Amino acid sequence: MAPRAHVAVYKALYKSFGGFAADVVAAIDQAAQDGVDVLSLSITPNRRPPGIATFFNPIDMALLSAVKAGIFAVQAAGNTGPSPKSMSSFSPWIFTVGAASHDRAYSNSVILGNNVTIHGVGLAPGTHKNTMLTLISALDALTNETTAATDMYVGECQDSRNFNRDLVKGNLLICSYSIRFVLGLSTIKQAIATAKNLSAAGVVFYMDPFVIGFQLNPIPMRVPGIIIPSPDDSKVLLQYYNSSLERNETTKQITRFGSVARILGGLKANYSNSAPKVMFYSARGPDPEDSFLNNADILKPNLVAPGNLIWAAWSSLGTDSVEFQGENFAMMSGTSMAAPHIAGLAALIKQKFPSFSPAAIASALSTTASLYDNNGGQIMAQRAYSNPDINQSPATPFDMGSGFVNATGALDPGLIFDSRYDDYMSFLCGINGSSPVVLNYTGQNCLSYNSTINGIDLNLPSITIAKLYQSKTVQRSVTNIAGEETYRVGWSAPYGVTIKVEPTRFCIASGERKVLSVFVDAKMNSSTASYGRIGLFGDQGHVVNIPLSVIVKVAYNTTTNV
Ligand SMILES: *[C@@H]1O[C@H](CO)[C@@H](O)[C@H](O)[C@H]1NC(C)=O
Ligand SMILES: *[C@@H]1O[C@H](CO)[C@@H](O)[C@H](O)[C@H]1NC(C)=O
Ligand SMILES: *[C@@H]1O[C@H](CO)[C@@H](O)[C@H](O)[C@H]1NC(C)=O
Ligand SMILES: *[C@@H]1O[C@H](CO)[C@@H](O)[C@H](O)[C@H]1NC(C)=O
Ligand SMILES: *[C@@H]1O[C@H](CO)[C@@H](O)[C@H](O)[C@H]1NC(C)=O
Ligand SMILES: *[C@@H]1O[C@H](CO)[C@@H](O)[C@H](O)[C@H]1NC(C)=O
Ligand SMILES: *[C@@H]1O[C@H](CO)[C@@H](O)[C@H](O)[C@H]1NC(C)=O
Ligand SMILES: *[C@@H]1O[C@H](CO)[C@@H](O)[C@H](O)[C@H]1NC(C)=O
Ligand SMILES: *[C@@H]1O[C@H](CO)[C@@H](O)[C@H](O)[C@H]1NC(C)=O
Ligand SMILES: *[C@@H]1O[C@H](CO)[C@@H](O)[C@H](O)[C@H]1NC(C)=O
Ligand SMILES: *[C@@H]1O[C@H](CO)[C@@H](O)[C@H](O)[C@H]1NC(C)=O
Repeated sequence: MAPRAHVAVYKALYKSFGGFAADVVAAIDQAAQDGVDVLSLSITPNRRPPGIATFFNPIDMALLSAVKAGIFAVQAAGNTGPSPKSMSSFSPWIFTVGAASHDRAYSNSVILGNNVTIHGVGLAPGTHKNTMLTLISALDALTNETTAATDMYVGECQDSRNFNRDLVKGNLLICSYSIRFVLGLSTIKQAIATAKNLSAAGVVFYMDPFVIGFQLNPIPMRVPGIIIPSPDDSKVLLQYYNSSLERNETTKQITRFGSVARILGGLKANYSNSAPKVMFYSARGPDPEDSFLNNADILKPNLVAPGNLIWAAWSSLGTDSVEFQGENFAMMSGTSMAAPHIAGLAALIKQKFPSFSPAAIASALSTTASLYDNNGGQIMAQRAYSNPDINQSPATPFDMGSGFVNATGALDPGLIFDSRYDDYMSFLCGINGSSPVVLNYTGQNCLSYNSTINGIDLNLPSITIAKLYQSKTVQRSVTNIAGEETYRVGWSAPYGVTIKVEPTRFCIASGERKVLSVFVDAKMNSSTASYGRIGLFGDQGHVVNIPLSVIVKVAYNTTTNV
């Protein structure tokens, strides 16, 4: 994202058990002392600290201190989606990033001798273009000493000693992919080693019918290979294989392996996916504490960024994943992959605008986010773990925050919604009963802050009202960091609500600050959130996008007010 940025790495976690908040706090403090500009945390608490501790937990407090020192803090939203309120990153001074897909696809397929093509995954070379190779199931290529009874997992091809090398040599070996691969008990790497040992021409993995509802990432293979993720397609392969076998009538022994196939290979990417899309695992808003604190009116996540099937830097000596041992890059998925994209872009913004506060960087990223996918349609959000591409609907601000990051836009935002450390302190002091905790953590007395400030009053580039009682006026102030420009204000109101913004048109000089008032009126009670948007359209081309989320608790009685 940010060529030639310096990366400082602080070890605070361990493979075996994760880690302790105290180590993370120490790492944050050390990074701040070392003068970093941006912190990227692909970690969240494994449990949301309850009640008042949601904001007052050691890591969020350490990040507040980092923000005070001018450091932009990015955090992964967590991979606990798609259910609502699954967010594990909640504080307004932290920039929370969800995961979206991108358009790149590594497509691999196997063409069978009956001309059926089956799609699959695998970062593998293909077999020779003009040659069909004989398929042989591992279960039909056992040595005389081996039977499925002596090794019930023999079909997973984990040990070359089980197989008759004369039968396998030069052919495509069929192996089964079971739940044991997901658990790490069997590996693709070992099956490939078996195939190599037996001089097989390649490997076709079919899916055991008990493996369902997990995402199979492309896995690097050094020999021609493919994994067929669909149990139905796997059945098609096995039926073709089985129906092509010829057997001795009396002994039932196989006399000919009649099925043939070739593997096309999946090393070359194509860019045909409809994207971006919010991934099913990306944690969702609204703020989980809406039901506890009246003042948790803070939009989360802030944004989504590429997080699915990302080529991540990897140490070839790393032992975290058997499949990627010896590799210099690993293809990874999760909000952990999305957060560093934003950290890099924040570094670019900081380079262009060195005086930007963390809130200004957050604003630049948020107000310029894209709302459309690469087909010009609405960005979709996957809503189920299984068949996620069928169970999807347009993404709301609780799925994607302000939208999908647009790096070009973020470097030229026009207007900025700024906030300072003192604003976050006021917000914290506004939480009932917080003063002793604030004193404990920051050494500062809430008496010196305006503790009438609620989450809704923070100058965020979004408006989130968790409980709307009849009406509310929300103020936001924008600062112009570009040249003089005239803005027109447009909006679409959430369902069941009317809104009005004043002024509806304004001219703003370079460096000038303007206050916008947003009047929100409830027309209809509702137990679910509805969504709207405010847009500021500048005559010099800047577009500033502000998402709106409202849950109406009590509406006006509309009968007299038709
Ligand atoms: C590109 O990849 C997608 C997804 O795997 C696949 O459906 C499509 O057929 C591929 N297109 C080409 C031209 O290879
Ligand atoms: C497969 O397709 C090729 C070319 O289209 C054709 O020549 C061949 O006869 C087909 N084979 C079968 C088994 O259908
Ligand atoms: C395995 O058994 C078959 C039939 O029982 C026999 O023909 C073959 O020679 C045996 N192979 C070896 C390597 O012992
Ligand atoms: C295959 O594996 C066997 C036993 O693990 C080993 O002795 C042999 O050298 C290997 N052969 C090749 C070609 O790798
Ligand atoms: C394989 O095919 C034979 C007949 O050709 C059938 O009796 C048998 O059930 C099939 N086995 C499998 C596992 O499909
Ligand atoms: C089937 O096997 C038996 C016993 O090994 C053998 O005598 C016979 O010739 C075989 N049949 C064919 C058609 O190969
Ligand atoms: C990103 O922002 C730039 C500059 O505002 C704009 O030209 C471009 O169309 C945007 N891209 C997307 C995908 O929205
Ligand atoms: C603050 O909390 C105290 C004790 O939990 C409670 O008695 C009081 O009503 C609360 N005040 C407000 C304004 O919610
Ligand atoms: C303040 O900190 C002390 C020591 O860390 C702790 O024992 C106490 O419970 C804290 N008080 C509050 C109100 O958080
Ligand atoms: C405190 O904040 C509220 C809400 O933003 C504002 O109306 C009020 O004027 C502020 N009071 C002071 C003393 O700044
Ligand atoms: C909304 O709900 C409140 C209380 O829950 C009720 O008093 C009011 O009549 C409702 N308003 C409408 C328009 O349904």
